[in-house]
Amino acid sequence: KNLGLIFDLDGVIVDTAKFHFLAWKKAAEEVGFELTEELNEKLKGVSRVDSLNKILGWAGATVSPEKFDEMAANKNADYLTYVDKMTSEDILPGVESFIREAKAKGYPVALGSASKNAPGILKHVGIYDLFDTIVDGNSVTKAKPDPEVFTVAAKALNVAATDCVVFEDSEAGIEAANNAGMLSIGLGSKDILTEAAYVFGEFTEIELSFIETQTTTTNT
Ligand code: BG6
Ligand code: MG
Repeated sequence: KNLGLIFDLDGVIVDTAKFHFLAWKKAAEEVGFELTEELNEKLKGVSRVDSLNKILGWAGATVSPEKFDEMAANKNADYLTYVDKMTSEDILPGVESFIREAKAKGYPVALGSASKNAPGILKHVGIYDLFDTIVDGNSVTKAKPDPEVFTVAAKALNVAATDCVVFEDSEAGIEAANNAGMLSIGLGSKDILTEAAYVFGEFTEIELSFIETQTTTTNT
């Protein structure tokens, strides 16, 4: 059976979503805005530039292009100080063994992330070589919820969109997967990821055999 597995990075493979939140919270304070965890859900999966635009919109603030670039650069520098301290311990429970099991069965595996830091982070935690292809914020122009990142990944894996399964922790990412015509699996809360085909708390709860029987082609 043909099956392509596409994994988001932040909040799915590594526990970095909390670092993005902390760094954006600090950036938001600079324009007098308090970023809550609830609003932060709207930033998950969203590109760096789009995220800052959203924050400025919520704050009702306008900044010069120079200030915008400075804020984005500072946010990333802050974020990278957290990343520097990461180890393989920050790989989320069950995801690495899930990917290894899928690969042993011959299924191709892709990364589909909005992050420009994705290759560096994967190398940092030692799992860069697990992926057959890496599609990240450096290789796509349209940000999630646009399906581009996932359709490019599917093409690279040479698997039809309807045979692809996307693992995502964000609303924008689930929407992108659905827009791509792929099966969307949410990691997180059912109350937040309401558009996902299925939602699990973490990978330790997901059986590969379940995924194998659930691709969108078998459902139609
Ligand atoms: C996504 C994160 O994976 O990547 C977002 O969920 C982040 O929070 C986006 O803004 C862009 O990442 P980066 O590392 O290029 O700023
Ligand atoms: Mg994510």
